[in-house]
Amino acid sequence: MDILHVDKYIDAFYDEAWWAQDMMALRGIAEEHYVPIIRPEMEGVLQSLLLTLQPRKILEIGTGIGFSATFMARLLPDAQITTLELIEKRYMEARTVFSKYGVEPQIELITGDASVSLLKLINKESFMKAKSPDDNIDNSDAYDFIFIDSAKSRYYEFFSMAYRMSKPGTVIVCDNVLLDGRTASDANIHNRRDKTSAKKMREFVAYVKTFTGARTSLLGIGDGVTVSTVL
Ligand SMILES: C[S@@+](CC[C@H](N)C(=O)[O-])C[C@H]1O[C@@H](n2cnc3c(N)ncnc32)[C@H](O)[C@@H]1O
Repeated sequence: MDILHVDKYIDAFYDEAWWAQDMMALRGIAEEHYVPIIRPEMEGVLQSLLLTLQPRKILEIGTGIGFSATFMARLLPDAQITTLELIEKRYMEARTVFSKYGVEPQIELITGDASVSLLKLINKESFMKAKSPDDNIDNSDAYDFIFIDSAKSRYYEFFSMAYRMSKPGTVIVCDNVLLDGRTASDANIHNRRDKTSAKKMREFVAYVKTFTGARTSLLGIGDGVTVSTVL
């Protein structure tokens, strides 16, 4: 297969898709600030999942300048999104973006290390998963959709904490699990930092593969994505 032509063909699909045009200016702002954001193919995955699942309550780990949160909010005007960002400067940039794009009322933006913010959220609301369909447990606080796109070496930690705020049917999506090929092969690793992040990501992928609390698919789209459906 001619990968180069396949890639170009896919890129052109997203370059020319009408809904992608809508967010093009915001892609430009992210580039200006040197902030990585979801790739167009990932935008496509999110779009399909969100329009199908219609989640009301969304949690995002890794706001950046707010591209993906804005995308999700505009796609689902009835959804509420909580998004977590470590860096104060990005938090401020994201606030400006949310206000500019008119999605501020839908978004709760929390700054600080995600593990601290996640713990606060876990403690704030009561998240309990029913052990059987007969258990009369109110899990209405649980998130319907969780998007993890943050520190790549900490996916296990973020996933485990996010899982505590899920319920049966919640979908947890993790972006960049292939790390540009480094997760799959040492041949793509060129320095110590890459080696560490690849090791951590391999551990995370091995974990979700056998985790019985959710069914997970690994998709080779964009930079690789896991889609876990909580059981
Ligand atoms: C890839 S960017 C997010 C992009 C965003 N999802 C989008 O597509 O528009 C990852 C973000 O995670 C943030 N981040 C890294 N470590 C974090 C942590 N421990 N807690 C919260 N955010 C973190 C980074 O500052 C960065 O802005």
